[in-house]
Amino acid sequence: MSVTTRCAIRGTFLDISHPVTTAGELPDAVRSLEDGVLLLEGGRIVALEPWEAGQRWIDAATPLHDLRGKLIVPGFIDCHLHYPQTEMIGAFGEQLLSWLEHYTFPTERQFTCPEYAAAIATIFLDQLLQNGTTSALVFGTVHPQSVDALFSAAEARQMRLIAGKVMMDRHAPDYLLETPEESERQTRALIQRWHGRGRLNYALTPRFAPTSSPALLEKVRQLRAEFPDVWVHTHLSENPEEVAWVRELFPERQGYLDVYHHYGLTGRRSVFAHAIHLEEPEWRCLHDSDSAIAFCPTSNLFLGSGLFNLGKRWAHGVKMGVGTDVGAGTTFNMLQTLGEAYKVGQLQQYRLSACEALYHATLGAAEALDLHDRIGNFAPGKEADFVVLEPAASPLQVLRLQRCHSALDKLFVLMTVGDDRNIAQTWVNGQCAWSREQKEAAA
Ligand code: GUN
Ligand code: ZN
Repeated sequence: MSVTTRCAIRGTFLDISHPVTTAGELPDAVRSLEDGVLLLEGGRIVALEPWEAGQRWIDAATPLHDLRGKLIVPGFIDCHLHYPQTEMIGAFGEQLLSWLEHYTFPTERQFTCPEYAAAIATIFLDQLLQNGTTSALVFGTVHPQSVDALFSAAEARQMRLIAGKVMMDRHAPDYLLETPEESERQTRALIQRWHGRGRLNYALTPRFAPTSSPALLEKVRQLRAEFPDVWVHTHLSENPEEVAWVRELFPERQGYLDVYHHYGLTGRRSVFAHAIHLEEPEWRCLHDSDSAIAFCPTSNLFLGSGLFNLGKRWAHGVKMGVGTDVGAGTTFNMLQTLGEAYKVGQLQQYRLSACEALYHATLGAAEALDLHDRIGNFAPGKEADFVVLEPAASPLQVLRLQRCHSALDKLFVLMTVGDDRNIAQTWVNGQCAWSREQKEAAA
């Protein structure tokens, strides 16, 4: 099917129709159409209307996909994960710094081989699609070939991806280290090759402050000045030992975030993963600089890093999306990730509603990535990325769904007992890029 094809989709639709500034505004921002029809053309959304009004669109040139009984939401946006860590998901027994040393660095070493990188990139992108994720902000490894492999595979799938090569010049094994000059040269070449090509964009990706010398951070600053529309993607205040280490390494700075701020790395299009152990001035700096956070609940629990404070995110008005953070995160599935976010909230007396969860995984994430004019909901003109959810994929779900009275009730149940069996189809740029039925028929 070419992207110029026009088609219509009938089903139950749920999205967040406009940006919000407080959690209290969310219920009014939810658009729920029990029987709706979505019109697509040329890979874009033309309109979403109740079936009564929209059925007039259906004609010989506009085939109808009848998906009644399914719940259709905007494509999930994963705001932080590592494609080279796909194969090391579920590594036993360590917290952040020893986990990096024992598992992560040896795994990332393999990406010096372009064929290996290409094979893992394929598996990784297929996992995203199989789990309903249509856009992502992704770490590569220090090897530029890792990013070439990922972008090539994403281009073939027409996915919207932001990615970058890791920049790192200290406190890691020699086999992964580079000089600031090499890092700058290779990063510049990758930006020139990939940034703004189709749906692909580049993120400057210093791994985190401990593996970055002042000289490397200075190079990142210079690259950002040279390419002001690229993204910045790094880790921030994930683990108490890490935070203490940053204080030792950068005693002249006010705290962890101030290291990045000093080198001009905060701002619009800067995304900081984790942000668990923040001081009040750091929250204010994130807000004042228009930076964004990626909340990574499964990873934060798996590595025992701590509980992210959703209340403070709203109180300080900091942009935020959700990240799976594979391979410290334990699933590619956004429904499961939102279910863990709910439990993180419960441990802090915070009630994460299904509508707030949907916001963080779609429009809120698009705002965090500064892509809200292109993706995140079913507004006319946006890119047609969406997920078709099967609300009843198991006998337990069939039973539980009998008690659901609205699309949001169903979504909450899917966050709690759902998984990749609930992803019936994933549409990217107006085309069905993954279908469980077709996959099962082919198997
Ligand atoms: N901090 C620095 N590198 C990493 C990484 O690969 N994963 C996580 N979770 N945190 C990090
Ligand atoms: Zn990470």
